Amino acid sequence: MKALILVGGFGTRLRPLTLSFPKPLVDFANKPMILHQIEALKEIGVTEVVLAINYQPEVMLNFLKQFETKLGIKITCSQETEPLGTAGPLALARDKLIDESGEPFFVLNSDVISEYPLKEMIKFHKAHGGEASIMVTKVDEPSKYGVVVTEEDTGKVEKFVEKPKIFVGNKINAGIYLLNPSVLDRIQLRPTSIEKEVFPKIAAEQKLFAMVLPGFWMDIGQPRDYITGLRLYLNSLRKKSSSKLAAGPHIVGNVLVHETAAIGEGCLIGPDVAIGPGCVVESGVRLSRCTVMRGVRIKKHACISSSIIGWHSTVGQWARIENMTILGEDVHVCDEIYSNGGVVLPHKEIKSSILKPEIVM
Ligand code: GDD
Ligand code: MG
Repeated sequence: MKALILVGGFGTRLRPLTLSFPKPLVDFANKPMILHQIEALKEIGVTEVVLAINYQPEVMLNFLKQFETKLGIKITCSQETEPLGTAGPLALARDKLIDESGEPFFVLNSDVISEYPLKEMIKFHKAHGGEASIMVTKVDEPSKYGVVVTEEDTGKVEKFVEKPKIFVGNKINAGIYLLNPSVLDRIQLRPTSIEKEVFPKIAAEQKLFAMVLPGFWMDIGQPRDYITGLRLYLNSLRKKSSSKLAAGPHIVGNVLVHETAAIGEGCLIGPDVAIGPGCVVESGVRLSRCTVMRGVRIKKHACISSSIIGWHSTVGQWARIENMTILGEDVHVCDEIYSNGGVVLPHKEIKSSILKPEIVM
């Protein structure tokens, strides 16, 4: 079986992290977002993953080559010379996606995180006999997504409305599809939106079916959702393999600590924290609802909550970092600094406090 991951887009909503790495390579729960997906695909027997890329392909491929052998899965790249949207890339990769078997293939948005119930999806697809299956999930704010209206008992899609202005329902497209090769005959090689141009047509022919995704789901392409996504992910990890989570008197709730990270005396960590490879957390530090990426140093008695600390940054002693502060790669926050929602570009030194949410260039 094959799969295509849509890796385009500039990831502007996840700046400043995406100034250093393309969005799919931004770490989530201690590994690049896209690896969560590649691992899930491998697990259900996908043999080749095609990355549909229009931005920094070298960076992606160089990085992912090491995982080809490690995971035993072929990773290839289909590069656009202009952004082709969410359907055009399928036409471009047509030859890679079709094989003699005529099997359906998976298509994934690169910025969604879930338990990837792909096995169940294959079963669902075979059972309904239509042309395409999409995974849907319920959300509180459907207007940011593609809304899907289905027939209650069969899951047959009656309507697909991308980013509706008026309320049509709260079940949304989760960005995980299983498509028959015939869907490719509906897509031309030009910038095309699968959500606006392809799905509504298949739905009109009554050949599009939606399966309600079991478990959690989040589009982690924006900081607030990224932080919420980590909470949901760790919660699910607790249920499935709790031995992967940290334990001890200094841990509160669900915390993921990389085996190469060092944590000092008298810290209090959690809930909902991920500490990446090679991090050093000095003594007396308080961390909650945050991600600390690879190679970060947090000095004594710093306090960080609801924030993301980018790769190889340092946070000074007694610093207080909170309210969706996002530090880009290699940012240095001096001792005793307060940051209330600062969004700091890579390689900056922060010598004075950031009192209200703002971008620091
Ligand atoms: N190769 C390529 N080329 N990929 C692209 C392009 C492009 O021109 N444009 C977007 N993508 C990729 C993005 O990288 C992402 O993985 C996926 O296509 C969806 O694009 P987003 O920009 O993240 O869209 P969205 O989040 O506003 O909406 C989409 O996702 C929602 C779920 O998170 C839609 O599919 C909605 O219907 C859906 O509900
Ligand atoms: Mg998105």
